[in-house]
Amino acid sequence: MATITTSEPAVSPTKAAQFLKAPKKNLIDGKWLESASGERFSVYDPSTGATIAHVPDSGAEDIDHAVKAARRAFESGPWPKLSPSDRGRLIWKIGDLILENLEELAEIESLDNGKPVAVARVADIPLAADLFHYMAGWATKIEGNTIPISALPAGDAKFLAYTVREPVGVIGQIIPWNFPLLMAAWKLGPALATGNTVILKPAEQTPLSALRLGELLLEAGVPVGVVNVVTGFGETAGAALAAHHGVDKIAFTGSTEVGKLIVQSAAGNLKKVSLELGGKSPNVVFRDVSNLDAAIQGAANAIFFNHGQCCCAGSRLFAEKEIYDEVVAGVSDFAKKIKLGPGLHPETEMGPLVSQEQLDRVSGFLNSGVQEGARTMTGGQRVGDRGYFVQPTVLTNTNPEMRVVREEIFGPVVVAEPFDKVEELIPIANQSEYGLAAGVWTNDIAKAHRAAHQLRAGTIWINCYNVFDAALPFGGFKQSGWGREMGHDVLELYTETKAVVVAL
Ligand code: NAI
Ligand code: MG
Repeated sequence: MATITTSEPAVSPTKAAQFLKAPKKNLIDGKWLESASGERFSVYDPSTGATIAHVPDSGAEDIDHAVKAARRAFESGPWPKLSPSDRGRLIWKIGDLILENLEELAEIESLDNGKPVAVARVADIPLAADLFHYMAGWATKIEGNTIPISALPAGDAKFLAYTVREPVGVIGQIIPWNFPLLMAAWKLGPALATGNTVILKPAEQTPLSALRLGELLLEAGVPVGVVNVVTGFGETAGAALAAHHGVDKIAFTGSTEVGKLIVQSAAGNLKKVSLELGGKSPNVVFRDVSNLDAAIQGAANAIFFNHGQCCCAGSRLFAEKEIYDEVVAGVSDFAKKIKLGPGLHPETEMGPLVSQEQLDRVSGFLNSGVQEGARTMTGGQRVGDRGYFVQPTVLTNTNPEMRVVREEIFGPVVVAEPFDKVEELIPIANQSEYGLAAGVWTNDIAKAHRAAHQLRAGTIWINCYNVFDAALPFGGFKQSGWGREMGHDVLELYTETKAVVVAL
């Protein structure tokens, strides 16, 4: 049984506490403002359910204000005049400031989201900084082409033809709560590197690190109106941003359901849309893997990292039938040893789910699994009655019709199935409306690459899982989304190509 540490956080969140004490406001046009309505809503510590802050409950009026500020900043003032080199230096500085404030940001993130502070310290915060550092380099490398054209009807006339890549314009960015600061970085880094201006709407569950980032952006010298941070609910602030005719593009990460709503609202002015949505990623262990222990640990981390609240979680585990029992036992043992507790407790290995809503959602899946005949090898229950803790869970005896096999659970719950032959496995692994990621564990190099080719997903991890890098594109096939974030692929999402033809 997973143990819960019930004592209060041993780390005093000094820096985070100082930040939390100050009133929280929107960043619009370089100013910190209350919502137009004056309304605010509570932000909770998911390990207790206690209120830790209040933030503006923004609506259409606030969004409109921010969009107008972003438009002004896009068209006039210092931002469009900044040289690529200066823009790069500015973005680099944001990365530096994140590192300088790493401990505070890690505490804020841990308190707000519930994730272990130790994880935020080595993953969320440094990766966010690295994304800005990586994107800083691109500011000076947004290049077009010179194109030899024939222009047949023009006879002997000669032309110089070239392309330039220009910013898309005013970008609305709507992000989720599972990696709040990192998702803000994934979105802001490339948008700024390519010269756009932004309205960022953080998730209502976790708005705090985006507001702290807003302060750091001003400290770095990002000009007024270039980045606006507006807190609010999805149905109000988010929907207003997605529908606004002054917005040229929406970049969204979140549920597939809301992704589809965004596409519909974007139709109003045909704004560009990029989407990073859900997943139900297969993770496949072959019996020829030489280090089975590493594969078992990898399979456990693939699902339990960030409490399963990862769009790319390895939530469907497949093991070749000869090793299936050992893999299931190994992952279950791993699950039983995970220490649950508040994110700020130094010994915590897994924190609470982010909200009551997610606790209810995940509990609903656990119930439906059992009702449909799945067997719980370990876990399956809520832990305690305070906070939103759920036991790491391994389900077996499942079939492809079950909801726990088809739908994204977004909690620490894995379904494990045996397979006989690779030819049978691939179609089953691909049997999902999603296609975000997949894992393959084998020592047969040809088999590994064949599987990598056959699996329909945006990222394939071979003998590893959850390896991310600012230089590596990430995104989904099928209903896992549109477009790729990070790497140089993301620049496509934030630039328009213009062709220029000169008669010589
Ligand atoms: P969600 O998709 O509702 O929320 C994500 C973001 O979208 C938040 O900023 C939210 O305020 C905003 N939003 C919500 N409704 C909107 C609307 N109508 N118009 C514009 N913006 C809107 O996700 P939620 O409810 O937090 O979680 C539900 C499920 O979504 C999870 O159980 C999980 O399966 C999935 N999810 C996937 C994520 C991913 O990384 N791909 C991240 C978060 C959730
Ligand atoms: Mg929602």
